[in-house]
Amino acid sequence: MTDLQPAPAPIALDVTGADIPGEAARLREQGRLVPVLLPGGVRVWAVTDVELLRELFVDWRVSKDAAQHWPAYIAGEIPPDWPLISWVSVRNMFTAYGKDHQRLRKLVGPAFTARRVAELRPRIRQITTELLDGLAARADGVVDLREEFAAQVPLRVITALMGVPADLRPGLRLCVEEIFSTAPRRDPQATLAEMVSILTELVARRRAEPGPDMTSLLISRRDNGADRLTEQELVHTLLLVISAGYETTVNLLDQAIYQLLTRPELAAQLRVGAFTWSHLIEETLRHTPPVANLPLRYALVDIDVAGTRIKAGEAILACFAAANRDPNLYGPDADEFDPARPIKEHLSFGYGPHYCLGAPLARLEAVIALPALFGRFPAMTLAVAPEAVKPLASFISHGHQRLPVLLDGQLGADRAAGKSGR
Ligand code: HEM
Repeated sequence: MTDLQPAPAPIALDVTGADIPGEAARLREQGRLVPVLLPGGVRVWAVTDVELLRELFVDWRVSKDAAQHWPAYIAGEIPPDWPLISWVSVRNMFTAYGKDHQRLRKLVGPAFTARRVAELRPRIRQITTELLDGLAARADGVVDLREEFAAQVPLRVITALMGVPADLRPGLRLCVEEIFSTAPRRDPQATLAEMVSILTELVARRRAEPGPDMTSLLISRRDNGADRLTEQELVHTLLLVISAGYETTVNLLDQAIYQLLTRPELAAQLRVGAFTWSHLIEETLRHTPPVANLPLRYALVDIDVAGTRIKAGEAILACFAAANRDPNLYGPDADEFDPARPIKEHLSFGYGPHYCLGAPLARLEAVIALPALFGRFPAMTLAVAPEAVKPLASFISHGHQRLPVLLDGQLGADRAAGKSGR
Protein backbone atom coordinates (compact mmCIF):
# COMPACT_ATOMS: atom_id res chain seq x y z
CA MET A 1 0.00 0.00 0.00
CA THR A 2 1.50 3.36 -1.07
CA ASP A 3 1.21 6.54 0.99
CA LEU A 4 -0.64 8.95 -1.27
CA GLN A 5 0.39 12.61 -1.24
CA PRO A 6 -2.04 15.51 -1.70
CA ALA A 7 -1.64 16.89 -5.24
CA PRO A 8 -0.36 20.48 -5.63
CA ALA A 9 -2.61 23.14 -7.16
CA PRO A 10 -2.81 22.67 -10.94
CA ILE A 11 -0.72 24.87 -13.25
CA ALA A 12 -2.62 26.20 -16.29
CA LEU A 13 -0.57 25.46 -19.39
CA ASP A 14 0.19 28.58 -21.42
CA VAL A 15 -1.75 28.26 -24.68
CA THR A 16 0.52 30.85 -26.30
CA GLY A 17 3.56 28.56 -25.88
CA ALA A 18 5.63 31.64 -24.97
CA ASP A 19 8.19 29.74 -22.88
CA ILE A 20 7.84 25.98 -23.21
CA PRO A 21 11.24 25.12 -21.61
CA GLY A 22 10.55 27.42 -18.62
CA GLU A 23 7.08 25.97 -18.12
CA ALA A 24 8.44 22.44 -18.45
CA ALA A 25 11.07 23.15 -15.77
CA ARG A 26 8.38 24.47 -13.41
CA LEU A 27 6.29 21.33 -13.95
CA ARG A 28 9.30 19.07 -13.36
CA GLU A 29 10.10 20.91 -10.12
CA GLN A 30 6.58 20.07 -8.90
CA GLY A 31 7.10 16.34 -9.39
CA ARG A 32 6.90 13.37 -11.75
CA LEU A 33 3.13 13.54 -11.93
CA VAL A 34 1.50 16.95 -11.56
CA PRO A 35 -2.00 18.28 -12.17
CA VAL A 36 -2.32 20.81 -14.99
CA LEU A 37 -5.18 22.69 -16.57
CA LEU A 38 -5.69 22.55 -20.32
CA PRO A 39 -7.82 25.14 -22.18
CA GLY A 40 -11.37 25.30 -20.85
CA GLY A 41 -10.14 24.34 -17.36
CA VAL A 42 -9.85 20.65 -18.29
CA ARG A 43 -7.78 19.07 -15.50
CA VAL A 44 -5.29 16.37 -16.49
CA TRP A 45 -2.16 14.73 -15.05
CA ALA A 46 1.11 15.87 -16.59
CA VAL A 47 3.90 13.28 -16.59
CA THR A 48 7.32 14.91 -16.50
CA ASP A 49 9.62 11.92 -16.00
CA VAL A 50 11.19 9.61 -18.59
CA GLU A 51 10.86 6.38 -16.57
CA LEU A 52 7.27 7.09 -15.57
CA LEU A 53 6.32 7.94 -19.15
CA ARG A 54 7.85 4.67 -20.33
CA GLU A 55 5.93 2.73 -17.67
CA LEU A 56 2.61 4.35 -18.51
CA PHE A 57 3.12 4.09 -22.30
CA VAL A 58 3.29 0.29 -22.08
CA ASP A 59 0.71 -0.15 -19.29
CA TRP A 60 -2.50 -1.93 -20.40
CA ARG A 61 -4.36 0.18 -17.81
CA VAL A 62 -3.69 3.31 -19.91
CA SER A 63 -5.64 3.94 -23.12
CA LYS A 64 -5.65 6.60 -25.85
CA ASP A 65 -9.29 5.98 -26.78
CA ALA A 66 -11.40 8.85 -25.41
CA ALA A 67 -14.62 7.45 -26.88
CA GLN A 68 -14.26 4.33 -24.72
CA HIS A 69 -12.21 5.49 -21.75
CA TRP A 70 -12.59 9.22 -21.01
CA PRO A 71 -15.81 9.64 -19.04
CA ALA A 72 -15.68 13.46 -19.26
CA TYR A 73 -15.64 13.22 -23.07
CA ILE A 74 -18.29 10.50 -23.20
CA ALA A 75 -20.56 12.55 -20.90
CA GLY A 76 -20.30 15.56 -23.25
CA GLU A 77 -18.33 17.69 -20.76
CA ILE A 78 -15.67 18.34 -23.41
CA PRO A 79 -17.34 20.75 -25.83
CA PRO A 80 -17.03 20.22 -29.60
CA ASP A 81 -15.24 23.57 -29.94
CA TRP A 82 -12.54 22.61 -27.40
CA PRO A 83 -9.18 23.68 -28.93
CA LEU A 84 -7.74 20.15 -28.58
CA ILE A 85 -10.82 18.34 -29.86
CA SER A 86 -9.11 16.91 -32.97
CA TRP A 87 -6.58 15.14 -30.74
CA VAL A 88 -9.31 13.10 -29.05
CA SER A 89 -12.31 12.82 -31.36
CA VAL A 90 -10.72 11.30 -34.47
CA ARG A 91 -10.87 7.55 -35.10
CA ASN A 92 -7.46 6.20 -36.12
CA MET A 93 -4.50 4.39 -34.55
CA PHE A 94 -3.54 7.50 -32.54
CA THR A 95 -6.79 7.27 -30.55
CA ALA A 96 -7.24 3.49 -30.58
CA TYR A 97 -6.66 0.91 -27.85
CA GLY A 98 -5.65 -2.76 -27.86
CA LYS A 99 -6.73 -4.87 -30.84
CA ASP A 100 -8.23 -1.88 -32.67
CA HIS A 101 -4.91 -0.11 -32.40
CA GLN A 102 -3.08 -3.12 -33.83
CA ARG A 103 -5.60 -3.40 -36.69
CA LEU A 104 -5.31 0.28 -37.64
CA ARG A 105 -1.54 0.50 -37.24
CA LYS A 106 -0.97 -2.61 -39.36
CA LEU A 107 -2.61 -0.84 -42.31
CA VAL A 108 0.12 1.75 -42.73
CA GLY A 109 2.96 0.38 -40.61
CA PRO A 110 4.60 -1.68 -43.38
CA ALA A 111 4.97 1.43 -45.54
CA PHE A 112 7.09 3.20 -42.91
CA THR A 113 9.73 0.64 -41.97
CA ALA A 114 13.34 1.84 -42.10
CA ARG A 115 13.89 -0.22 -45.28
CA ARG A 116 10.85 1.17 -47.11
CA VAL A 117 11.66 4.69 -46.02
CA ALA A 118 15.26 4.36 -47.25
CA GLU A 119 13.83 3.89 -50.74
CA LEU A 120 12.54 7.48 -50.51
CA ARG A 121 16.09 8.86 -50.25
CA PRO A 122 16.41 9.88 -53.95
CA ARG A 123 12.99 11.58 -53.90
CA ILE A 124 13.83 13.53 -50.71
CA ARG A 125 17.19 14.56 -52.21
CA GLN A 126 15.45 15.78 -55.35
CA ILE A 127 12.87 17.78 -53.38
CA THR A 128 15.63 19.33 -51.27
CA THR A 129 17.72 20.27 -54.30
CA GLU A 130 14.74 21.85 -56.06
CA LEU A 131 13.97 23.93 -52.98
CA LEU A 132 17.59 25.02 -52.57
CA ASP A 133 17.81 25.98 -56.26
CA GLY A 134 14.70 28.12 -55.77
CA LEU A 135 16.20 29.76 -52.69
CA ALA A 136 19.56 30.41 -54.40
CA ALA A 137 17.77 32.56 -56.94
CA ARG A 138 16.61 34.78 -54.08
CA ALA A 139 19.75 34.79 -51.97
CA ASP A 140 19.85 38.58 -51.76
CA GLY A 141 17.46 39.67 -49.06
CA VAL A 142 15.56 38.14 -46.18
CA VAL A 143 13.97 34.70 -46.58
CA ASP A 144 11.62 33.06 -44.05
CA LEU A 145 13.32 29.67 -43.86
CA ARG A 146 10.52 28.07 -41.83
CA GLU A 147 8.09 28.78 -44.64
CA GLU A 148 10.42 28.39 -47.60
CA PHE A 149 12.37 25.32 -46.53
CA ALA A 150 11.54 23.72 -43.16
CA ALA A 151 7.83 23.50 -44.07
CA GLN A 152 8.31 22.66 -47.73
CA VAL A 153 10.50 19.56 -47.35
CA PRO A 154 8.08 17.52 -45.19
CA LEU A 155 5.02 18.92 -46.95
CA ARG A 156 6.26 17.84 -50.36
CA VAL A 157 7.48 14.47 -49.11
CA ILE A 158 4.27 13.53 -47.29
CA THR A 159 1.91 14.80 -49.98
CA ALA A 160 3.89 12.90 -52.65
CA LEU A 161 3.75 9.75 -50.52
CA MET A 162 0.02 10.13 -49.95
CA GLY A 163 -0.82 11.23 -53.52
CA VAL A 164 -2.26 14.61 -52.51
CA PRO A 165 -2.75 16.83 -55.58
CA ALA A 166 -1.28 20.34 -55.46
CA ASP A 167 -4.65 22.12 -55.29
CA LEU A 168 -5.60 20.36 -52.02
CA ARG A 169 -2.32 21.09 -50.24
CA PRO A 170 -2.79 24.72 -49.09
CA GLY A 171 -6.14 23.92 -47.43
CA LEU A 172 -4.75 20.85 -45.69
CA ARG A 173 -1.76 22.77 -44.45
CA LEU A 174 -3.83 25.49 -42.84
CA CYS A 175 -5.98 22.87 -41.10
CA VAL A 176 -2.92 20.99 -39.78
CA GLU A 177 -1.42 24.20 -38.41
CA GLU A 178 -4.70 25.05 -36.67
CA ILE A 179 -4.97 21.56 -35.16
CA PHE A 180 -1.46 21.89 -33.70
CA SER A 181 -2.17 25.37 -32.30
CA THR A 182 -3.49 25.59 -28.75
CA ALA A 183 -4.71 29.15 -29.36
CA PRO A 184 -6.47 28.47 -32.67
CA ARG A 185 -7.64 31.38 -34.79
CA ARG A 186 -10.86 29.70 -35.85
CA ASP A 187 -13.47 27.29 -34.51
CA PRO A 188 -11.69 23.91 -34.01
CA GLN A 189 -14.86 22.11 -35.06
CA ALA A 190 -14.88 23.98 -38.37
CA THR A 191 -11.18 23.14 -38.89
CA LEU A 192 -11.81 19.44 -38.34
CA ALA A 193 -14.85 19.51 -40.64
CA GLU A 194 -12.82 21.25 -43.35
CA MET A 195 -9.93 18.81 -43.02
CA VAL A 196 -12.33 15.87 -43.30
CA SER A 197 -14.00 17.44 -46.31
CA ILE A 198 -10.66 17.95 -48.13
CA LEU A 199 -9.60 14.37 -47.34
CA THR A 200 -12.98 13.03 -48.48
CA GLU A 201 -12.34 14.80 -51.79
CA LEU A 202 -8.86 13.22 -51.89
CA VAL A 203 -10.37 9.77 -51.35
CA ALA A 204 -12.95 10.38 -54.10
CA ARG A 205 -10.24 11.40 -56.57
CA ARG A 206 -7.91 8.50 -55.76
CA ARG A 207 -10.82 6.05 -55.83
CA ALA A 208 -11.69 7.25 -59.33
CA GLU A 209 -8.05 7.36 -60.40
CA PRO A 210 -5.78 5.19 -58.22
CA GLY A 211 -2.04 5.80 -58.24
CA PRO A 212 1.11 4.35 -56.67
CA ASP A 213 0.46 6.23 -53.42
CA MET A 214 -0.58 5.28 -49.93
CA THR A 215 -4.06 6.78 -50.15
CA SER A 216 -4.84 4.50 -53.11
CA LEU A 217 -3.43 1.54 -51.19
CA LEU A 218 -5.61 2.26 -48.15
CA ILE A 219 -8.69 2.68 -50.35
CA SER A 220 -8.06 -0.68 -52.02
CA ARG A 221 -7.74 -2.37 -48.62
CA ARG A 222 -11.03 -0.85 -47.48
CA ASP A 223 -12.83 -1.62 -50.73
CA ASN A 224 -11.61 -5.22 -50.61
CA GLY A 225 -13.16 -5.54 -47.18
CA ALA A 226 -9.77 -6.05 -45.51
CA ASP A 227 -9.14 -5.07 -41.91
CA ARG A 228 -12.76 -4.02 -41.24
CA LEU A 229 -11.69 -0.48 -42.09
CA THR A 230 -14.60 1.97 -42.03
CA GLU A 231 -14.78 4.98 -44.34
CA GLN A 232 -14.36 7.25 -41.31
CA GLU A 233 -11.25 5.34 -40.15
CA LEU A 234 -9.84 5.60 -43.66
CA VAL A 235 -10.29 9.39 -43.78
CA HIS A 236 -9.06 9.87 -40.21
CA THR A 237 -5.98 7.70 -40.88
CA LEU A 238 -5.12 10.02 -43.76
CA LEU A 239 -5.67 12.95 -41.41
CA LEU A 240 -3.24 11.44 -38.91
CA VAL A 241 -0.49 10.49 -41.33
CA ILE A 242 -0.58 13.82 -43.18
CA SER A 243 -0.68 15.98 -40.05
CA ALA A 244 1.81 13.88 -38.03
CA GLY A 245 4.08 13.73 -41.06
CA TYR A 246 4.08 17.47 -41.54
CA GLU A 247 4.06 19.87 -38.59
CA THR A 248 6.37 17.76 -36.39
CA THR A 249 9.14 17.49 -38.96
CA VAL A 250 8.84 21.20 -39.77
CA ASN A 251 9.63 21.91 -36.12
CA LEU A 252 12.59 19.53 -36.12
CA LEU A 253 14.16 21.28 -39.11
CA ASP A 254 13.24 24.73 -37.78
CA GLN A 255 14.77 24.10 -34.33
CA ALA A 256 17.94 22.52 -35.71
CA ILE A 257 18.43 25.47 -38.08
CA TYR A 258 17.82 27.90 -35.22
CA GLN A 259 20.46 26.20 -33.05
CA LEU A 260 23.01 26.23 -35.85
CA LEU A 261 22.40 29.89 -36.62
CA THR A 262 22.50 31.06 -33.01
CA ARG A 263 25.56 28.93 -32.13
CA PRO A 264 28.05 29.31 -35.02
CA GLU A 265 30.60 27.13 -33.19
CA LEU A 266 28.34 24.13 -33.88
CA ALA A 267 28.98 24.35 -37.63
CA ALA A 268 32.74 24.47 -36.97
CA GLN A 269 32.47 21.45 -34.64
CA LEU A 270 30.51 19.56 -37.30
CA ARG A 271 33.25 20.31 -39.83
CA VAL A 272 35.98 18.84 -37.62
CA GLY A 273 33.86 15.78 -36.78
CA ALA A 274 33.25 16.57 -33.08
CA PHE A 275 29.80 15.08 -33.72
CA THR A 276 27.72 14.06 -36.73
CA TRP A 277 24.55 15.48 -38.29
CA SER A 278 22.66 12.56 -36.74
CA HIS A 279 23.94 13.56 -33.29
CA LEU A 280 22.80 17.12 -33.92
CA ILE A 281 19.36 15.90 -35.03
CA GLU A 282 18.95 13.64 -31.97
CA GLU A 283 20.03 16.45 -29.66
CA THR A 284 17.49 18.78 -31.30
CA LEU A 285 14.80 16.14 -30.74
CA ARG A 286 15.82 15.80 -27.09
CA HIS A 287 16.44 19.45 -26.26
CA THR A 288 13.52 20.97 -28.13
CA PRO A 289 11.02 18.17 -28.82
CA PRO A 290 8.89 19.04 -31.89
CA VAL A 291 5.84 17.81 -29.94
CA ALA A 292 6.38 19.44 -26.53
CA ASN A 293 3.31 17.98 -24.80
CA LEU A 294 1.22 15.15 -26.20
CA PRO A 295 -2.55 14.89 -25.59
CA LEU A 296 -3.95 12.52 -24.22
CA ARG A 297 -4.17 9.18 -22.44
CA TYR A 298 -6.77 7.87 -19.94
CA ALA A 299 -6.57 5.61 -16.90
CA LEU A 300 -8.83 2.55 -17.20
CA VAL A 301 -8.65 1.87 -13.44
CA ASP A 302 -7.09 3.63 -10.44
CA ILE A 303 -3.31 3.71 -10.89
CA ASP A 304 -0.98 4.57 -8.01
CA VAL A 305 2.26 6.11 -9.22
CA ALA A 306 4.87 8.38 -7.72
CA GLY A 307 2.89 8.52 -4.47
CA THR A 308 -0.17 9.85 -6.28
CA ARG A 309 -3.35 8.19 -7.49
CA ILE A 310 -4.52 8.66 -11.07
CA LYS A 311 -8.19 7.81 -10.71
CA ALA A 312 -10.01 5.68 -13.26
CA GLY A 313 -11.15 7.90 -16.13
CA GLU A 314 -8.68 10.71 -15.49
CA ALA A 315 -6.63 12.02 -18.40
CA ILE A 316 -2.84 12.05 -18.74
CA LEU A 317 -0.62 14.43 -20.72
CA ALA A 318 2.89 13.37 -21.80
CA CYS A 319 5.33 16.24 -21.18
CA PHE A 320 8.26 15.45 -23.46
CA ALA A 321 9.67 18.97 -23.01
CA ALA A 322 9.99 18.30 -19.27
CA ALA A 323 11.12 14.67 -19.40
CA ASN A 324 13.77 15.22 -22.07
CA ARG A 325 15.63 17.69 -19.85
CA ASP A 326 15.61 15.68 -16.66
CA PRO A 327 18.90 16.48 -14.88
CA ASN A 328 18.82 13.08 -13.14
CA LEU A 329 19.15 11.43 -16.54
CA TYR A 330 21.06 13.95 -18.65
CA GLY A 331 23.11 15.62 -15.90
CA PRO A 332 23.20 19.17 -14.56
CA ASP A 333 23.67 20.54 -18.08
CA ALA A 334 20.41 18.99 -19.34
CA ASP A 335 19.22 22.44 -20.49
CA GLU A 336 22.29 22.90 -22.69
CA PHE A 337 22.17 22.04 -26.38
CA ASP A 338 25.13 19.69 -26.73
CA PRO A 339 25.14 17.29 -29.70
CA ALA A 340 28.26 15.62 -28.27
CA ARG A 341 26.54 14.59 -25.01
CA PRO A 342 26.94 10.86 -24.28
CA ILE A 343 23.26 10.05 -23.61
CA LYS A 344 21.26 10.71 -26.71
CA GLU A 345 18.08 8.73 -26.10
CA HIS A 346 14.89 10.74 -25.70
CA LEU A 347 11.15 10.27 -25.75
CA SER A 348 10.33 12.70 -28.56
CA PHE A 349 8.92 9.92 -30.76
CA GLY A 350 7.09 8.31 -27.84
CA TYR A 351 7.63 4.73 -26.64
CA GLY A 352 5.77 1.43 -26.72
CA PRO A 353 2.89 0.41 -28.98
CA HIS A 354 2.14 3.97 -30.19
CA TYR A 355 5.82 4.75 -30.94
CA CYS A 356 5.94 7.21 -33.85
CA LEU A 357 5.49 5.39 -37.13
CA GLY A 358 7.24 8.17 -39.01
CA ALA A 359 10.45 8.34 -36.96
CA PRO A 360 12.67 6.83 -39.71
CA LEU A 361 11.13 9.18 -42.27
CA ALA A 362 11.55 12.29 -40.09
CA ARG A 363 15.18 11.38 -39.39
CA LEU A 364 15.89 10.72 -43.07
CA GLU A 365 14.36 14.04 -44.13
CA ALA A 366 16.44 15.88 -41.54
CA VAL A 367 19.72 14.12 -42.33
CA ILE A 368 19.30 14.94 -46.02
CA ALA A 369 17.84 18.46 -45.76
CA LEU A 370 20.04 20.02 -43.06
CA PRO A 371 23.53 19.25 -44.47
CA ALA A 372 22.29 20.21 -47.95
CA LEU A 373 21.00 23.57 -46.69
CA PHE A 374 24.15 24.47 -44.75
CA GLY A 375 26.37 23.13 -47.56
CA ARG A 376 24.64 25.42 -50.05
CA PHE A 377 24.53 28.53 -47.84
CA PRO A 378 27.53 28.29 -45.47
CA ALA A 379 27.48 32.05 -44.70
CA MET A 380 23.78 32.04 -43.74
CA THR A 381 22.85 34.15 -40.69
CA LEU A 382 19.69 35.05 -38.83
CA ALA A 383 18.27 38.31 -40.20
CA VAL A 384 17.02 39.37 -36.76
CA ALA A 385 18.19 39.05 -33.16
CA PRO A 386 17.63 35.49 -31.77
CA GLU A 387 15.07 36.78 -29.25
CA ALA A 388 13.03 38.32 -32.09
CA VAL A 389 12.33 34.81 -33.43
CA LYS A 390 8.99 34.13 -31.75
CA PRO A 391 7.53 30.74 -30.78
CA LEU A 392 4.35 29.31 -32.26
CA ALA A 393 1.16 29.85 -30.26
CA SER A 394 1.03 26.29 -28.97
CA PHE A 395 2.07 24.12 -26.05
CA ILE A 396 2.02 21.12 -28.41
CA SER A 397 3.83 22.31 -31.53
CA HIS A 398 7.32 23.46 -30.60
CA GLY A 399 8.63 25.67 -33.36
CA HIS A 400 8.88 29.29 -34.47
CA GLN A 401 6.39 31.50 -36.25
CA ARG A 402 9.04 32.58 -38.75
CA LEU A 403 12.75 32.04 -39.27
CA PRO A 404 14.03 35.13 -41.13
CA VAL A 405 17.52 34.56 -42.52
CA LEU A 406 20.05 36.10 -44.87
CA LEU A 407 21.10 33.17 -47.02
CA ASP A 408 24.40 34.76 -48.06
CA GLY A 409 24.88 36.39 -44.68
CA GLN A 410 25.87 40.02 -44.54
CA LEU A 411 27.27 39.83 -48.07
CA GLY A 412 23.79 39.20 -49.44
CA ALA A 413 22.33 42.02 -47.37
CA ASP A 414 25.01 44.42 -48.62
CA ARG A 415 24.37 43.38 -52.20
CA ALA A 416 20.64 43.91 -51.75
CA ALA A 417 21.36 47.37 -50.33
CA GLY A 418 23.55 48.11 -53.39
CA LYS A 419 26.77 48.37 -51.36
CA SER A 420 28.75 45.99 -53.57
CA GLY A 421 28.41 44.29 -56.93
CA ARG A 422 28.49 40.57 -57.63
C1 HEM B 1 10.29 14.94 -35.92
C2 HEM B 1 9.19 14.45 -36.37
C3 HEM B 1 8.20 13.69 -35.58
C4 HEM B 1 7.97 13.66 -34.23
C5 HEM B 1 8.70 14.42 -33.14
C6 HEM B 1 6.87 12.75 -33.99
C7 HEM B 1 6.36 12.44 -32.74
C8 HEM B 1 5.36 11.54 -32.52
C9 HEM B 1 4.82 11.23 -31.22
C10 HEM B 1 5.29 11.84 -29.92
C11 HEM B 1 3.86 10.29 -31.40
C12 HEM B 1 2.92 9.74 -30.36
C13 HEM B 1 3.43 8.57 -29.62
C14 HEM B 1 2.46 8.17 -28.54
O1 HEM B 1 1.26 8.40 -28.61
O2 HEM B 1 2.95 7.61 -27.60
C15 HEM B 1 3.78 10.02 -32.80
C16 HEM B 1 2.91 9.12 -33.35
C17 HEM B 1 2.75 8.96 -34.70
N1 HEM B 1 3.50 9.55 -35.70
FE1 HEM B 1 5.04 10.82 -35.44
N2 HEM B 1 6.44 12.26 -35.20
C18 HEM B 1 7.23 12.80 -36.18
C19 HEM B 1 7.15 12.53 -37.54
C20 HEM B 1 6.23 11.71 -38.12
C21 HEM B 1 6.14 11.44 -39.50
C22 HEM B 1 7.09 11.99 -40.58
C23 HEM B 1 5.08 10.62 -39.68
C24 HEM B 1 4.48 10.00 -40.91
C25 HEM B 1 4.65 10.00 -42.00
C26 HEM B 1 4.53 10.33 -38.39
C27 HEM B 1 3.46 9.50 -38.15
C28 HEM B 1 3.01 9.15 -36.90
C29 HEM B 1 1.90 8.23 -36.68
C30 HEM B 1 1.08 7.55 -37.75
C31 HEM B 1 1.74 8.13 -35.30
C32 HEM B 1 0.71 7.30 -34.54
C33 HEM B 1 1.30 5.97 -34.08
C34 HEM B 1 0.34 5.17 -33.22
O3 HEM B 1 -0.53 5.75 -32.57
O4 HEM B 1 0.46 3.94 -33.23
N3 HEM B 1 5.25 11.01 -37.46
N4 HEM B 1 4.72 10.78 -33.47
